[in-house]
Amino acid sequence: MPHADSAFLPDSIQTKSEFWDHVHLQLSALLDGQRYWVSNLSNAASLIYSSLLGFPKYFGESDKAVNWAGFYIRGDLFPISRISSQSLLPADQLLLGPFCGKPACQFIPVASGKERGVCAAAYVKRETIVVPDVEEYPGHIACDGETKSEIVCPLILEHGGRVTILGVLDLDCLALNGFGEEDRVGLEKVAKLVVDSSDW
Ligand code: SME
Repeated sequence: MPHADSAFLPDSIQTKSEFWDHVHLQLSALLDGQRYWVSNLSNAASLIYSSLLGFPKYFGESDKAVNWAGFYIRGDLFPISRISSQSLLPADQLLLGPFCGKPACQFIPVASGKERGVCAAAYVKRETIVVPDVEEYPGHIACDGETKSEIVCPLILEHGGRVTILGVLDLDCLALNGFGEEDRVGLEKVAKLVVDSSDW
């Protein structure tokens, strides 16, 4: 199957749960045998975004659906240049990772006392945050003034009895109440697949 076809949604998909199960299945095929996180997160952002746009009636409204899907990753996990001298980025900032949508803010501070916005809160609390109306969320970072609702899921790696937080997966919507409980459950499974399929 051509890779681009993995974002195709069959007519049999009628609920959000079925949607997320389908995305999970397609993503596991897409990531099979691939371990580079930059490439895997790029394909994951594209698959999630393209699939969401194919299902606007469940994620907002037909003309006001999802407008951003992507990752923010801990600064120290980014590869550094092997050619020019460059120091490691700090672990107390999230840096913009692979995404689909309009340009977004590059750094999000997560150091204690400096954290702001939904991504930082999901990262620090290590829990998914669903925001039905971003205007009501204190400190929300408005990368796109047209965004109305948002969901952010932490990326958590469990290895050898240790738990490590890597970053977050963020979805934005142009309509209020774009995301709910089914999205939280579905997105957390997708986030776990991305984390476990990649080397960090
Ligand atoms: N709104 C996010 C910032 C990232 S953009 O939505 C892509 C926040 O408040 O953390």
